[in-house]
Amino acid sequence: MAKKLWGGRFGKKTDPLVEEFTKSIHYDYKLAEYDVYGSLMHIKILKKADFLSITEYNKLHKAFSNILDKIKSGTFKYDNACEDIHTNIQNVLEKEVKSLVLKLHTARSRNDQVVFDLKMFSKDKLLDIRELCLNLQKTLLEMAKENIDITIPGYTHLQHAQLVYLSDYLRSYCNMLNRDYKRLYTLSDNIKFTLGAGALAGAPISSKFYNEAIKEVIKELDFKEIQFEAVENSLDTVSDRDFVIEILSALSIMGMHLSRLSEDLIIWSTKEFGFVEIDDAFATGSSLMPQKKNPDVLELIRGYSGVLYGNLVSVLTTMKGLPLTYNRDMQLDKPPLFSSFEIIEKELKVLEKLIATLKWNKKTIAKAIENDETLYATDLVYYLIGKGEPFKNAHDSVGKLVRYSLNKNKKIKEMNDLELKQFSDKLKHSEIIKLMDPLVSVKSRISVKRKNLKPRT
Ligand code: ARG
Repeated sequence: MAKKLWGGRFGKKTDPLVEEFTKSIHYDYKLAEYDVYGSLMHIKILKKADFLSITEYNKLHKAFSNILDKIKSGTFKYDNACEDIHTNIQNVLEKEVKSLVLKLHTARSRNDQVVFDLKMFSKDKLLDIRELCLNLQKTLLEMAKENIDITIPGYTHLQHAQLVYLSDYLRSYCNMLNRDYKRLYTLSDNIKFTLGAGALAGAPISSKFYNEAIKEVIKELDFKEIQFEAVENSLDTVSDRDFVIEILSALSIMGMHLSRLSEDLIIWSTKEFGFVEIDDAFATGSSLMPQKKNPDVLELIRGYSGVLYGNLVSVLTTMKGLPLTYNRDMQLDKPPLFSSFEIIEKELKVLEKLIATLKWNKKTIAKAIENDETLYATDLVYYLIGKGEPFKNAHDSVGKLVRYSLNKNKKIKEMNDLELKQFSDKLKHSEIIKLMDPLVSVKSRISVKRKNLKPRT
């Protein structure tokens, strides 16, 4: 078993089952890079507080820089025998700086370290997700532009309602993603970094040294987005996981949006609808039925919402009964967070390509509209209102007209003035056939002020 960061107090070796059960190296290795950034700050703080001489500082700085290079180039050797990534890095460091390593943990606790690492990791991931979100928005907008005048049946209760623009439909998902983007941006902005909380009670080093050292390292490493705050309450600092819960919540909402978009596309790509065709490269087949072309990607996006919500509920539940301050339960915040980041990242990437390669079956869409005059029923109501009919009367008249048309299997467009008169003497064949046109219908909804929707940058 690898060296531990603790041990003096114990009269026996740790049981191997305990070591296996308590370790987190198999997932927190992802924090390696950020752990080193925190260590670079920590050694500078120790130097300022005279816990390290300049020579010692330089030696440690060099060793940490080597480790960072290895992590970044993928040559760092993760050691699964270690309890966690903090231990792993410290053990590697020891090989280079020998006994000097014994000074490293002065005034430092993993409780403080792990919050710092996780915040930094999250901030980076949030940036990646925001970029992918923008890409998907751009693709949706591009598709909206290409299909600016295409109308489709709009649905409520999954029943034909009124005609809408396909471009509006696509832009509605863009709107959702705009809100997601904003949420992630605000979340990231709210993440404030601290060091110096110790295990829970702070450290015997002036906050002035923390501030100076951290600022200097931020400058050296050229980190732009990092905002540091002095530890204002060390108990809260080591036991706060609100940022994890907030991220999981924002990712769950985003996953829900992607799931709804997927569900629409699944329905629209069925034989019954046939509005859209998924490119062969983004569909899957059946092991038995040779003709099948299945939307598994979209189904999995829908399915993964369950995992995203589960991850959120998992951390909420882990946190709800914890006494202050740090408890080992909190180690379990990482797998759900990593999982949700990974799911959303993959979903945004694959969905962007799937959408860019969609083929809209304009003829099938036009046919669906042509086959259902009820899509104009509300337009006919407005037409009668325009002729002085009170809304309720107009609603009743058109309702009866629709029922008559369906029962008789006769198109409203084919009814003459005499036939129309049974429902309202204000209905004129020559006028309503002009009205029952897809573009006339959608253009009449002038309450909608379309924005030139641009993805956020
Ligand atoms: N692996 C731990 C975690 O993720 C690090 C902190 C351990 N602290 C402790 N007091 N055992 O939370």
